[in-house]
Amino acid sequence: MIAAKSPCHNSNAASQNAYTGESLTQTLASTSKGIATAASILAKGELVAFPTETVYGLGGDARSDIAVARIFEAKARPHFNPLIVHVPDLNAAHEIAVLDEVAERVASAFWPGPLTLVLPLRQDAGLSALVTADLPSVAIRIPEHPVAQALLRAFGGPVAAPSANPSGKVSPTRPEHVLAGLSGRIAAIVDGGPCAVGVESTILGLTGEPVLLRPGGIPAEALEACLGCVLGNGGNAQKPSAPGQLASHYAPGATVRLNVLVPEEGEFWLGFGPEAEAADLNLSPAGDLVEAAANLFHYLRRADSRSGTTIAVSPIPERGLGRAINDRLRRAAAPRPE
Ligand code: TXA
Ligand code: MG
Repeated sequence: MIAAKSPCHNSNAASQNAYTGESLTQTLASTSKGIATAASILAKGELVAFPTETVYGLGGDARSDIAVARIFEAKARPHFNPLIVHVPDLNAAHEIAVLDEVAERVASAFWPGPLTLVLPLRQDAGLSALVTADLPSVAIRIPEHPVAQALLRAFGGPVAAPSANPSGKVSPTRPEHVLAGLSGRIAAIVDGGPCAVGVESTILGLTGEPVLLRPGGIPAEALEACLGCVLGNGGNAQKPSAPGQLASHYAPGATVRLNVLVPEEGEFWLGFGPEAEAADLNLSPAGDLVEAAANLFHYLRRADSRSGTTIAVSPIPERGLGRAINDRLRRAAAPRPE
């Protein structure tokens, strides 16, 4: 008899309980060995929760469409909100975003620390379009927590990390909070004990006039003192901005028609699943919603550039990541102001 094989080739990745078939979430110590294991899990496109000084983050490789799609899936987020990208230092931030003189001043005053800056995205940043929700800007943070620092350095790439809780639930400030919400849904957690700050980072928008996008770990007054101005409030302070609410968000030039089983003559068919075998592009021929989410923004752009008329999209099931995909597609299909 052949022994049952582990579904993973490496013990570092998410493994399954041989008896129940449930995925297991490894708890890793915040030692150099645990951090090296966490980095190798990230390198495989799997998810690792890790401590920062604000809250625990749910980390994935910010350059990998599949890893970022898995973040949305694990959190069961119904929208593709843009995520914060974590890097270890200013050099790494420069590889992703453009920092002007004001940004440099704020960065040198508050980084590393509980501050996130929304900055113009560099063309050659190499990030997944899902991380930025396809915006021309990116939210960057350099956390101060030694475990976050060590993990970012060991991994050697940018890490997308929203708070490590299911969508709509309170942010986790202890490892047990993370496990209560996400156990079995993520490969591992690095145990770094309780978080010192306990609220998320302050988000400062620096793509135009400075705006406070979210109050958080750094008081607005401290930022105002550094900037020498009173901060405008970006509105919607607690509620994360959904990408479609941001004015600069990309919308296809072509008309988009949803829930199409059989496209009309001349339409560009953006398919999903095996039924859409004849589609011009198929978000996931196997009908896998994680794969479809990972392909969504690229394929919308490709469909847009190749289509003179209408993009006809197959029905996407309204479950799991399908809810976020449909939310984005409905925005793309909605009538747009001139
Ligand atoms: O403390 C924190 O900031 C935690 C820890 C884990 O670092 N992270 C966190 O990440 O709260 P996240 O991904 O949940 O924060 C995302 C929020 C979005 O909801 C949005 O408000 C803002 O960051 N954001 C991200 N990218 C943006 C962009 N390009 N333009 C405007 N806002 C953006
Ligand atoms: Mg959150």
